[in-house]
Amino acid sequence: MQYGHFDDKAREYVITRPDTPRPWSNYLGSTEYGAIITNHAGGYSFYKSGATGRFLRMRFNSVPMDQPGRLFYLRDNESGDFWSASWQPVAKPLDKYKCICRHGTAYTVLESRYAGIATEATYFVPLGQTFEYWRLRVTNKSKRERRLSVFTYCEFANLWHTYQDLVNLQYSQFITRATMEDGILGVTCNPNYDFDGKDLTGCNRTWMALTGAPLAGVETTRGKFLGSYGGYAAPEVVANGQCSNFLAEGDNVVGGQQADLVLAPDETRELIVLLGLGTVGSHGKKTVAEFASPERCAVELQKLKAAWHAPLAALQVKTPDTDFDHMINVWNAYNALITYAWSRSASLVYNGERDGLGFRDTVQDILGAIPLLGAEVQPRLELMLTGQLANGGAIPVIKPFTHRPGQESPPPDEEYRSDDCLWFFNAIPAFVAETGDLGFYQKILPYADHGEATVLGHLRRALEFNLARTGRNGLPCGLAADWNDCIKLGYKGESVFVAFQVRFGLEVYSGVAEKFSQPAEAAWAHSELARLDEKIQKVCWDGEWFIWAIGQDGTVYGTKNFAEGQVYMNTQVWAVMSGAATPAQARQALLTMKERLATPYGVMLCAPPFIKANPEIMKATLFNAGIKENAGIFSHTQSWGVIAECLQGDGDQAYAYYRAFMPSAYNDRAELRQIEPYVHCQTTYSRYNVNEGASRVPWLSGTASWSYYSATHWLLGVRPELEGLRIAPCIPKKWAGFSVRRRFRGRMLHLEVKNPSGVCSGVKTLTVDGRAVAGNLIPLDRLRDGSKIVAILG
Ligand code: GLC
Repeated sequence: MQYGHFDDKAREYVITRPDTPRPWSNYLGSTEYGAIITNHAGGYSFYKSGATGRFLRMRFNSVPMDQPGRLFYLRDNESGDFWSASWQPVAKPLDKYKCICRHGTAYTVLESRYAGIATEATYFVPLGQTFEYWRLRVTNKSKRERRLSVFTYCEFANLWHTYQDLVNLQYSQFITRATMEDGILGVTCNPNYDFDGKDLTGCNRTWMALTGAPLAGVETTRGKFLGSYGGYAAPEVVANGQCSNFLAEGDNVVGGQQADLVLAPDETRELIVLLGLGTVGSHGKKTVAEFASPERCAVELQKLKAAWHAPLAALQVKTPDTDFDHMINVWNAYNALITYAWSRSASLVYNGERDGLGFRDTVQDILGAIPLLGAEVQPRLELMLTGQLANGGAIPVIKPFTHRPGQESPPPDEEYRSDDCLWFFNAIPAFVAETGDLGFYQKILPYADHGEATVLGHLRRALEFNLARTGRNGLPCGLAADWNDCIKLGYKGESVFVAFQVRFGLEVYSGVAEKFSQPAEAAWAHSELARLDEKIQKVCWDGEWFIWAIGQDGTVYGTKNFAEGQVYMNTQVWAVMSGAATPAQARQALLTMKERLATPYGVMLCAPPFIKANPEIMKATLFNAGIKENAGIFSHTQSWGVIAECLQGDGDQAYAYYRAFMPSAYNDRAELRQIEPYVHCQTTYSRYNVNEGASRVPWLSGTASWSYYSATHWLLGVRPELEGLRIAPCIPKKWAGFSVRRRFRGRMLHLEVKNPSGVCSGVKTLTVDGRAVAGNLIPLDRLRDGSKIVAILG
């Protein structure tokens, strides 16, 4: 079943069937003023933190799962019939009601058509502002004059704290007030407190204005707007057609505003709703005076689009697979940027409770943002480096607005994750390769608790942290978790995954040390690497695959002698990515993975699932079989399978793995995946579960950055390196070629790859502006803005 299509020219996904299997969401706003919206205008808004800055309420895990939001109701004042400008919540029959949703880059447009009336509602947060626009155009498409009322509706959180707002009702319902000042609605929590308008953090004050038509009334309590039994589908005020102008002093405050319109045939009216932070006096009046005109609203929308489209222009591709192109040119890139911005804090699933930047997640998210944002990611990278402690470990969650390098306390010893700082070995070399800023390694940055070091020093400390914490076989300890949050091996238990990460890190480190002519450092890394390799070969190979881990008590997980979780994906792919596997082991491990873990929807994280394993060690046992860490298809790890196959030169297999988890590949059977076909997700049910093929937790996942990176750097093989640009595609044999437009160090480059012999990889000839290049690394001095690169595979 297909519910919509990709419009790459407009950079939008267009939902043409509103009854999507679940609400399909999009992001508005910035990391300051954040907002979520769905194809049913459901969603919420918050200032800085989804947890402690929530001011527009949405009820999580409800039915439908996205209400309320930013609603427009329309009422025909002759017939009394009413509907909403989005299909939900009134949900008129779909043979009479049409709705198209266009999700774009940080804006959403909902177009409806019902009973001879067309509407177009556009939602966005203008760049750098602390308010949101809801623009509604209403057109009379019938042949007679129509008398309509339009009502707005949203629910303000009673206080800016999502949890307190929903549970502490004996308090939160008695602190709210609505006021009207110069025709603008003011909403206040704790109204007897002063507010000076300078610091909006936790100010608990919002305002809302309806412009473009006289205000015919307001309804400010939920009880009066919906009625105790009306609900969002049939609000009492809309059914009756008149707001009461009652101003709330307590109870749940809502943004009900009414405009009455008389429309001649073909006449269009434009209403603009503005809703923002602060009081009417501090912000509302000024904002309305400056921004309420239709012209200004249109200009702000254009500015917003231009700002989001600019980073996407940094990398555009044309391949034989249009589904792949939709992802790389628009949606995977946008998904990576949104994940980079929001970490795991705000979506229809993440309700803000996970506040702050999860260390490992954020460092990996940077990897996906680097090709799009270049040097702009540096402050975020530095923030994370200053979240590293002087002992080399990391604070598990960084609070970006309050983080104080040099003054933070280390976590208790048992809370360290073993992998956190090791992700720097992926992100930092990618940053340096993209920007050419080798000097970054020498920049001095403080540790979170005390002391400081160069970036290279931070990297060494990261390795030392793991090398100093080893178990009985001399492999790195898993500590509270490695990448996998579900393994608790005991403090001295050993993680094979982390062993491979450390190996990868030591190689990166020795390479950088050599560049800086530090032979002693390089020699240190080489000797640690040799010692580690010896242990890996001694302990980690099980004959046909690499083991998973070794518990503190000596139990070996992920072996043929262990019935559950026998084969673990991560150690197979990281053995290859880190270079730890011998060529024969690499071939065999990937073959085992294919035979034992690959499914049409992606590679399972492990198999068979855990049923009996001790949940205190294998927390995956807590999940149903076939989802998340318990033999589910974990999207995040899929790209590692792709990269491992590219390293083997098998473009057919790499691409097959890629398409299996690529959202757009499911657009014509979207009922299977159920969630948004334009974004990645955390996990998909595998064959061990009755829900096989259904995906969950859309948008915010390490999948976004790794899938973007694996597609662009490995499948297409356009890889920045310090000295220049490497062209090393690894594509399916059937691809006749592809082209890429990529910005690299300030130059826009045009690459044409041709595959006349139908191979997966291997560059036979390479030319830049008609002149041959030896090998497949184009030195920087051969590249100018507008250079044409032609690579012939064979
Ligand atoms: C979730 C977490 C991530 C973790 C993964 C595997 O995606 O956000 O940090 O690595 O689960 O447990």
